[in-house]
Amino acid sequence: MKTALIKGQTAFITGASSGIGKACAEQFASLGVNLVITARRLDRLKIAAEDLSQKYGVKVLPMQLDVQNNEQVESAFKQLEKDKIEVDILLNNAGLALSSDRMQDAKISNWDTMIDTNIKGLLYVTKAVLSSMIKRDRGHIINIGSVAAHGCYISGNVYCATKHAVRAINKSLRLDLMGTAIRVSEVDPGAVETEFSIVRWKDEEKAKKLYQGFDPLVAEDIADAVIYCATRPLHVNVAELVVFPQAQASLTDIYRQNEKPKGIFDITSEK
Ligand SMILES: NC(=O)c1ccc[n+]([C@@H]2O[C@H](COP(=O)([O-])OP(=O)(O)OC[C@H]3O[C@@H](n4cnc5c(N)ncnc54)[C@H](OP(=O)(O)O)[C@@H]3O)[C@@H](O)[C@H]2O)c1
Repeated sequence: MKTALIKGQTAFITGASSGIGKACAEQFASLGVNLVITARRLDRLKIAAEDLSQKYGVKVLPMQLDVQNNEQVESAFKQLEKDKIEVDILLNNAGLALSSDRMQDAKISNWDTMIDTNIKGLLYVTKAVLSSMIKRDRGHIINIGSVAAHGCYISGNVYCATKHAVRAINKSLRLDLMGTAIRVSEVDPGAVETEFSIVRWKDEEKAKKLYQGFDPLVAEDIADAVIYCATRPLHVNVAELVVFPQAQASLTDIYRQNEKPKGIFDITSEK
């Protein structure tokens, strides 16, 4: 199989303190990619940086960054410029869902946080990296979207909207960058067992239940997909990659052991 060599490149990862971002950091490091790992929890990043640089001999810079804050984002990239660190791969991964309430019952502050993180944060970081990528006419922006960009579910309202926005931004950016050599890809995961549902519901028991009765994806499965995108030959751009666990057939249909699969028109009383 033909692949592009990413060894020696630098990847900037948002949301690298946990789950998918953390697993991607490990897989990039294992391929010899230097890293800037960012998130709000610096303590976790420092531990990961030490571990990855020791294990794989790559340079890993941990950086505290709240993507909701554009001033922080801009000063992070100014610092990288001063340090002569050029970003070849941007992984826009930081994101979250908060609660699951019908629109009529939802808290506005939860909407604000999801919109500010999943949409505005992704835009701020993308804008900050673009001038250097365009100047060098190289680079790859990989966005973590979701299957929630491909449909809606009850109480998914604003989270689904943010991921639809990520998908629209992914498509728009590819258009705006026509004529450059920069690639733009999106990886859309189905159910992955990470801290995502704990953050969403602040209830570990409820979060655990969501993944019972089937084998959910693990963060490393999505890291595999991200690495696949990043290592295609330079003339190949994976535009969108949707990854489900085997038991998940659509955004809303997951087969759990001992449960009868049920279609929306299956309205018999049989249990
Ligand atoms: N798990 C799933 O089933 C699933 C499915 C589809 C899509 N996704 C998407 O996958 C991405 C990663 O989620 P995950 O499953 O790995 O969840 P996770 O384990 O909760 O990780 C989320 C990461 O995002 C970071 N983050 C959250 N808010 C941030 C902010 N304001 N600034 C910077 N970093 C922030 C968190 O770090 P700090 O808290 O330290 O800042 C953490 O590192 C998200 O975009 C999510 O929407 C997940």
